[in-house]
Parts: sequence; C-alpha cells; structure tokens
Amino acid sequence: MTNLDLYAKAEHLLGIEEASEALYDVYRGELDDYEVKTLLDVGCGRGNFMERLISDGITCKGIDLSQYMVDACKEKGLDAECIDIKDETGTYDAIVSIFDVLNFMDKDSLISFMDSVASRLNKNGVFIADINTLSGFADVAEGSMSNDTGDEFLSVDAVFENYELHTRITLFIKENEEKNNDKSFIKYQDTIIQYFHKLNFFKKLNGLKLIDKQTFSLYAEKDKTLLIFKKQ
Ligand SMILES: C[S@@+](CC[C@H](N)C(=O)[O-])C[C@H]1O[C@@H](n2cnc3c(N)ncnc32)[C@H](O)[C@@H]1O
Repeated sequence: MTNLDLYAKAEHLLGIEEASEALYDVYRGELDDYEVKTLLDVGCGRGNFMERLISDGITCKGIDLSQYMVDACKEKGLDAECIDIKDETGTYDAIVSIFDVLNFMDKDSLISFMDSVASRLNKNGVFIADINTLSGFADVAEGSMSNDTGDEFLSVDAVFENYELHTRITLFIKENEEKNNDKSFIKYQDTIIQYFHKLNFFKKLNGLKLIDKQTFSLYAEKDKTLLIFKKQ
C-alpha cells in the first residue's frame, strides 16, 4: 500500500467532509464563469466533485495516484484512472486540482505537472487549483488528532518545518474475523510530505497564465489560496 492509499483509507476519519463541500462550492462558482463541457479532475479522490458536475451535464474524468481512490470512483460508476497526468491523453475545457493536491508535489514534480496541465487544456481552457498558505500549514495543518470508532483507530501527527509538512499517519483497522472473540487489529503506518509553494512560482510558468488568485479562509483566517490559470 502506498502512502496515498493509506491517506485514502483514513480520509473518512479526518472529519473534512464539511470543508470539502465548502471548497467544492468555491470551485463550482468559479467554473460558472467559463464555457465548460469537459473537465479533468486531477487528484479526484472519491470523485465527489465530479458527481456534482455530472449532474449539471458536464462530462468528467478523474485521475488520482491512489488506486484505492480510483476504485472508489469506479464503484460509483465514474470515469476514473490511476495514472500520472503525464500519461493522460485527452484534452479538456477545464482541469481542477482540489484540496491541497499541488501541495503533495515538490517543486520539480510541480514544474512537470504544470507543463502537463497546460498540454491537456483545450484552447482558452482554464485550470483551477488551491494551495495552502503558510498559515494554512503552520496554524491549521500542524498538530495532532485522533479518532477512535471502535472498529478503526486513527492517529495523525503533523510537523511543519523548513516549508514542509510531515504527516505521520497511523491507522488500526479491526480484522473481519475475530479469532477466539479477541479483537485483532491490522496496523498501517506511513508519512505524507506536503510542500509549501510561493505564489511567485505560479507567475512564471510556460503555457499557463495566472489570471486570478484569491486568498480565503476555509478552516482559519486566510489559510488557502485559489489559483486560476488560462492556457497561453
Ligand atoms: C486531500 S485529497 C483531495 C481529494 C479530492 N480532490 C477531494 O477534494 O476530495 C488529495 C488527493 O490528491 C491525490 N494526489 C496527490 N498527488 C497527486 C498527483 N501528483 N497526481 C494525482 N493525484 C494526486 C491523492 O491521492 C489524494 O486523493
């Protein structure tokens, strides 16, 4: 299991549903300003945002590096594939990367990611993504939490240092079969690194022009910035 699969397995215990829905509202509002018939959701997770758009008549595809997430999309009948965007062959009116997806990449990976995004957009296409601000990392993401449902136990410890957030995830899941009535749990543990990106980085990209940026508050004061790019 990769560290992204572990995140996928643990996500429902993080309590982020409300914030996700609020974020989807922001994206939905922005997309209304553009003529969008086709959309690629990169880092689509369980496909919840795509479900919203499909009900509005937009054709959507999702890609994610976690097979676990992609399987969850497919179970809902969504078009999804576990591939890197560099291997995507379609072109789209809009591409989105919602909820920190860009922060999962270090600078070198982000440079090639943004190149691939530009190459997958139709003429006049739009790319919308969000990134964490410094306060989003230091005041919101850093810290510890745990959640115990009886069948699952999650502990998360995140440390922000040198512009990187290291999140240690420990998940215990009760096995299906209880042997001799003893509860036995399987333990999963891994670390996810997220990277802070300066706004200036996004102002000098090949193939994409940053046309708008909005810093807003999701969990705390000014913890996220929405970035809107047009294909050049
Ligand atoms: C915080 S989740 C957000 C999921 C989804 N966008 C949502 O709003 O529910 C970040 C997702 O990005 C995926 N991811 C991280 N890096 C990626 C990359 N380079 N390409 C595609 N997916 C990526 C992870 O597997 C995870 O599903």
